[in-house]
Amino acid sequence: MTNPYYITTPIYYVNDVPHLGTAYTTILADVLARYARLRGQETFFLTGTDEHGQKVQEAAEKNHTTPQQHADQTVSRFLEAWDHLNINYDDFIRTTEPRHKRVVSVVLQQLYDQGDIYKADYEGWYCVSDERFWTAKDLVNDCCPECGRPVHRLTEANYFFRMSDYQEWLIGYIQAQPDFIQPLSRRNEVLGFLRRPLNDLCISRPKKRLSWGIPLPFDEAYVTYVWFDALLNYITAPGYLADEQRFNRFWPETIHLIGKDILTTHSVYWPTMLKAADLPLPKTIFGHGWWVVGGLKMGKSMGNAVKPLDLAGIYGVDALRYFLIRNMNPARDAEFSAETLDQRYQADLANNLGNLLNRIVSMIGRYCDGRIPTSNESTKAEEALIETAESLPAAVFAHVDTFTLHEALEKIIAFASDINTYLEQTGPWREAKKGNDQRVATILYHAAEALRLVSVLLHPVMPEKTADLWRQLGWQPPEPLGEALTWGHLKPGSPTNPGQALFPRIE
Ligand code: MSP
Repeated sequence: MTNPYYITTPIYYVNDVPHLGTAYTTILADVLARYARLRGQETFFLTGTDEHGQKVQEAAEKNHTTPQQHADQTVSRFLEAWDHLNINYDDFIRTTEPRHKRVVSVVLQQLYDQGDIYKADYEGWYCVSDERFWTAKDLVNDCCPECGRPVHRLTEANYFFRMSDYQEWLIGYIQAQPDFIQPLSRRNEVLGFLRRPLNDLCISRPKKRLSWGIPLPFDEAYVTYVWFDALLNYITAPGYLADEQRFNRFWPETIHLIGKDILTTHSVYWPTMLKAADLPLPKTIFGHGWWVVGGLKMGKSMGNAVKPLDLAGIYGVDALRYFLIRNMNPARDAEFSAETLDQRYQADLANNLGNLLNRIVSMIGRYCDGRIPTSNESTKAEEALIETAESLPAAVFAHVDTFTLHEALEKIIAFASDINTYLEQTGPWREAKKGNDQRVATILYHAAEALRLVSVLLHPVMPEKTADLWRQLGWQPPEPLGEALTWGHLKPGSPTNPGQALFPRIE
């Protein structure tokens, strides 16, 4: 409960523009981090950009600028997008920062000194776009199996990390730690991959071919392979070699959230690198599925990337966040379409949640002078409502721990429906006609308080809409917000502030 919480996103290629796929991972991490804070955990949420490598060098050359200047310009696309999408990260790391280059250098030197890195000739099929070598049997139609582009035959002297030495150890580790690689399908995929003998990992690029990278500390003629560099960001940011106390507090709690496209680098390269460096492994690597359109991965190379900010402009940032979390089971792929987004908006947000707030606040205005009423004697209906309300936070946090937030949202919204049903069944407007003012007050107090609890549980997903809802209910949230996860925080007598529809009709 009080364990710290450390969650990371992949660091995104600085050359690319944020799209719905990268926005999804970042929003999911943000939502998980916000739930951890709500639960009272000390939280560290890290995102950032991957700035070295061939593609950045080429883009800079094309734009007649330096790679560093190019990265400095393009990083703002991510900073601005995450700002706009209300991503509340604790740290944003760029691999060109001195703090990171130092860690990469020290780890490389350590592995070299202890004999885990050696020099040898390498010949293979090289994909410029993915910056990696493939063996002949990896190729698909003589092209890169990852991006489908043509590959080139290349021989060069390079440095290698003795990854193969750690294969048996890694298999044993994954088998002994069922929560290490999640979900189960991804774990099986990695174990399947590890049935073939593991090669050593080429971790250098000759400077004459690629200069934009971190120099190898033991051979200035080479720079570091971009993945070896990038993965180390996860230990740089919490303070490896800089703030050991902080590092030791957060590192054992690490959750790496990634897309399934980068499973091997995270579940094979990274654990063996850490083992060689004598560091503990992260707690969990979770590889979520893809947003697909007609079954095809959404992304720049497929030409079907949706711009997240365009959607946020139409539906609002919070509705987009809600949709992405509600409509994907992270263990699978999810189909994206404008229709499903629209349906979700109408059904869950406009007609259910937004309408519920509107009903409650207007009835409080009509029957209770616009002030939160005092609850009087309660009946079975109120007891049932409270019982569900009180069980909801634990259920939601259980879903946080199993990366099944789509189910958490389903339960929260189902409870909002319950509140609507409660209003139908108890009929405060009928009681008002009969002059049962005390009964009206009891019903509206319970409905408002139940909705308040719903809104606290939705706050990590929709921080702005829930704050608006609180304003309308006339409620001031406590600091920390987690104190308000129990029943009974609305203050009778406090004035409500009827406002605009929470989720207006989309034209
Ligand atoms: N720079 C590397 C990661 C290094 S981490 C040490 C990289 N960057 S990336 O910009 O290509 O981002 C890949 C990530 O974007 C995926 O792992 C996933 O999190 C996200 N997505 C990209 N397309 C996606 C979908 N269509 N659907 C869901 N997420 C996807 O790889």
